[in-house]
Amino acid sequence: MRAAVIGVGVIGSLHAEILSEKNMLAAVCDTDENKLKKYACPGYTDYKTMIDAVKPDCVHICTPHYLHAEMIIHALGAGVNVLCEKPLCINRQQIEAILEAEKRSAAKLGVCLQNRYNKENVFVKEYLKDKNVKCAVAHVAWHRTKEYYASADWRGKYATEGGGVLINQALHTLDLLQYFAGMPKTLTASVSNLTLKDCIEVEDTAVIQSVKGAGISLFASNGCAADMPVNITVRTDKDVIQIYPGAVLINGVTADIEKTTEKPRGKECYGSSHGILIEDFYNHIKENRRFEIDGKEASKVVKLILASYESGGSETEV
Ligand SMILES: NC(=O)c1ccc[n+]([C@@H]2O[C@H](COP(=O)([O-])OP(=O)(O)OC[C@H]3O[C@@H](n4cnc5c(N)ncnc54)[C@H](O)[C@@H]3O)[C@@H](O)[C@H]2O)c1
Repeated sequence: MRAAVIGVGVIGSLHAEILSEKNMLAAVCDTDENKLKKYACPGYTDYKTMIDAVKPDCVHICTPHYLHAEMIIHALGAGVNVLCEKPLCINRQQIEAILEAEKRSAAKLGVCLQNRYNKENVFVKEYLKDKNVKCAVAHVAWHRTKEYYASADWRGKYATEGGGVLINQALHTLDLLQYFAGMPKTLTASVSNLTLKDCIEVEDTAVIQSVKGAGISLFASNGCAADMPVNITVRTDKDVIQIYPGAVLINGVTADIEKTTEKPRGKECYGSSHGILIEDFYNHIKENRRFEIDGKEASKVVKLILASYESGGSETEV
């Protein structure tokens, strides 16, 4: 399989590193030519030209959020498989257009929600298989600085990032809440900018509550004094399940979960499951099986986020 990475910034470099180790990296693309120089493979500044010239089996889309939809639709239209970084896209029209493009194409779309592959989350998903989840609650308390937002001009703006802490940092955790508890029918949310008013127009803090269809609560902020570990608590009829990075407690007792053998790559908050997800996606392509985190599945968390932005403190349909 020959793969190409579009956008070799922070996370695209990590995708390229993984693909290089597997001898699969056929080309890279970035509008910033300087970022192409460190790669031995051909580099392009235009992704359409690259797709025409290289005809890769798969492209990895690692560009700013607002570009995901057009790049996914173009690649699927050219019959090229796509692994896109989160989020799938940033508005409802884009969701519809992506799902249409997916239907029309024989190629596959996968979205990089790698935390679903963390051993503790795999264990909990399996544990919950025959149980009734009453509520899933999470805290994402992270620290993002002015320097972080200044590191790329798409960050912190509605037009290019699509939102703030919800669509970028807390998306993985919100996805896990719905993965464990199911999709709520409605939600009530409040978003605000408590600590970063002078540098971003999007929210740095958000609270989401839902009780209809599925019980989900999320408290998320980029305005914390330090990066704290994410924790998720799930309540079923009988159990309280607490999930921490690398550990699960069931009714206070540590569960025996498999330890990951993957090395962490990039920032601590990325975890170590990018490589596992990438390998799984390629196995699905080779065996022509439906990849679980396709457009429809990855659109669920985007719909929760968009409803949260629309809510303004009132109960809103998802
Ligand atoms: N799954 C995760 O844990 C995780 C972690 C970090 C980032 N991400 C996601 O990855 C994506 C990229 O984030 P990042 O932090 O690497 O951003 P970044 O700004 O570091 O990298 C984006 C790159 O895309 C390039 N680019 C912009 N427009 C382009 C175009 N038209 N064609 C080709 N290249 C173009 C930029 O020059 C830049 O190098 C975002 O969607 C982000 O949410 C996911």
